[in-house]
Amino acid sequence: MPDRYESVCEALRAHPQTWLITGVAGFIGSNLLEALLSLDQHVVGLDNFATGHQRNLDEVRGIVGDKQWRRFRFIEGDIRNMDDCRAALHGVDHVLHEAALGSVPRSVRDPIATHDVNLSGFLNILCAARDAKVQSFTYAASSSTYGDHPGLPKVEDRIGQPLSPYAVTKYANELYASVFARAYDFHATGLRYFNVFGKRQDPEGAYAAVIPKWTAALIEDETITINGDGETSRDFCFIDNVVQVNILAAKAAQEARGQVYNVAVGDRTTLRQLYEELKRALARHGIESRRDAVYGPFRAGDVRHSQADVSKAEQLLGYGRKVVFADGIEKAMPWYIRFLSEQADREPISASALSAARSGT
Ligand SMILES: NC(=O)c1ccc[n+]([C@@H]2O[C@H](COP(=O)([O-])OP(=O)(O)OC[C@H]3O[C@@H](n4cnc5c(N)ncnc54)[C@H](O)[C@@H]3O)[C@@H](O)[C@H]2O)c1
Repeated sequence: MPDRYESVCEALRAHPQTWLITGVAGFIGSNLLEALLSLDQHVVGLDNFATGHQRNLDEVRGIVGDKQWRRFRFIEGDIRNMDDCRAALHGVDHVLHEAALGSVPRSVRDPIATHDVNLSGFLNILCAARDAKVQSFTYAASSSTYGDHPGLPKVEDRIGQPLSPYAVTKYANELYASVFARAYDFHATGLRYFNVFGKRQDPEGAYAAVIPKWTAALIEDETITINGDGETSRDFCFIDNVVQVNILAAKAAQEARGQVYNVAVGDRTTLRQLYEELKRALARHGIESRRDAVYGPFRAGDVRHSQADVSKAEQLLGYGRKVVFADGIEKAMPWYIRFLSEQADREPISASALSAARSGT
């Protein structure tokens, strides 16, 4: 018997709909784009390339082919601009709102920029979607909303105080969503992602996430600094799980909408374990690192432990067939090796790392 996700995908293929993905040139947005075009959907994408890349869109085009690509319309625009939001929503059935400035440290350094995009931009797209009378609105919330709540695993209705400006903006998104349900009968569904990883997650820049950053450093044979004692833990969630829950949420029954859901696996991996797992995964591709990690201070604004209870998404949305952490790392690794090897052609890295990276592809 097909699971709910398979049934939803089949129904979408039979009756294609039109989707808006904000943040489409980013990591999660471009993976959603690839999945929806592969399901023969029509997609509008909005992005201002603040942290996203044209190369992500080009890669999706190469994967889905020109025929599917013609179903995609890209608008280079900004969610802080209401006209851009309204233009992007023309004829749209479902909204997947991913555009935001991610990263806790970025928000600690520049809370105003984070607030403008993540909160004012969110309110713009929410109002525009309400006015456009879309069928569903699903937005990227965050596990950072659990803040200093010590409970594990994290359950949706038990949160603590936010620990960063980023967390404030993501929690405020949820508050706006719940008020829009009461005030306008507009039901936006929030997905609290827990440390997502996979292909096209940017390994570059000061605010790169830990998995792409460490993978790049290991390939380039650099020493890795672990923030804190290495026992900080996360529920690392492979991108395919996130794609699945977005599509399920958009097509959820009315009573399951307008709520927030944890999106992860329900496991916990410490930073020390992550480091060892990445080394093992690269070794399987012939890339050996003999360096030991060094330990630095804890990072401001970071949550100490994170692990999701995903039973709500399982029960109300039909979330199933999760890719677990180790399998996700295995699936993601060839992309990183290829990407970093291609980068190295432009900016030379050490000769041994490069030849190892090439032999691994
Ligand atoms: N990656 C994770 O682990 C994670 C965890 C929790 C929540 N989230 C949330 O998921 C969403 C997607 O994250 P991601 O990891 O793909 O990040 P990303 O940086 O790769 O993607 C964000 C995209 O939004 C675009 N963007 C930023 N500001 C914009 C603006 N003003 N107007 C239009 N587009 C704009 C960027 O250019 C980028 O393409 C974000 O809302 C993020 O906060 C991500």
